[in-house]
Amino acid sequence: MQNKPFSIAIDGPAGAGKSSVAKALAAELNAMYLDTGAMYRAFGLYMLRRGALSDRQAIIDALDDVDITVEFIDGAQHIFLGTEDVTAAIREPEVSIAASDVSAVPEVRVRMVALQRKIAEGHSVVMDGRDIGTKVLPNATLKIYLTASAEERARRRYRELEQKGMPEPYDKVLREMQERDYQDTHRAASPLRPADNAVILDTTNDSLEESVAKIKRLAMEAIHA
Ligand code: DC
Repeated sequence: MQNKPFSIAIDGPAGAGKSSVAKALAAELNAMYLDTGAMYRAFGLYMLRRGALSDRQAIIDALDDVDITVEFIDGAQHIFLGTEDVTAAIREPEVSIAASDVSAVPEVRVRMVALQRKIAEGHSVVMDGRDIGTKVLPNATLKIYLTASAEERARRRYRELEQKGMPEPYDKVLREMQERDYQDTHRAASPLRPADNAVILDTTNDSLEESVAKIKRLAMEAIHA
């Protein structure tokens, strides 16, 4: 592996498999994996607890109070609100839409993007999110836009929630996923879209291993180009 740090951006809609793919890829390439959605989720949880999710000014003001930090414990990303480890709490379904809500506020995005760039600075990194290729890492070594049909993405999320012992009806999972897709692609600030030079991969019919292998091949080519 060469010494110069590389960066791989993985964007796409909810449930496309970004985090599983990015985590496996980072392990194979010996790079840091940064889940940027976790930061929006932590802030969404903070606003949810304050009962102020629909108050735009309260969201902007809260940026001065909130203390979000990311730590890597035994190689796994943990996210903290102050001293509280909220890594598990941010996966509750109600936090998903809260994260999408706060992420539409431009001031929130500016803060999160700065934090993400700072964490990644000087490291080889695989970052996943919605705006990594378009905004956070515009000069990324490789940009991937991972997608899959809404039904397949909802099935994956449904199974994941079931495995975690937090089952939700499939129809509800699909509806919330479509709502989040709509919000994330229609917001004015850094809407979800593939970067101009992103490789678009539809994983509807691919296993995790197949997706990782494909991206690893592309990553090796890009890193050694
Ligand atoms: O990837 P995720 O489902 O954990 O992300 C939660 C929400 O955060 C998602 O609906 C949109 C927002 N998000 C974003 O706007 N930009 C990112 N880089 C990552 C997530």
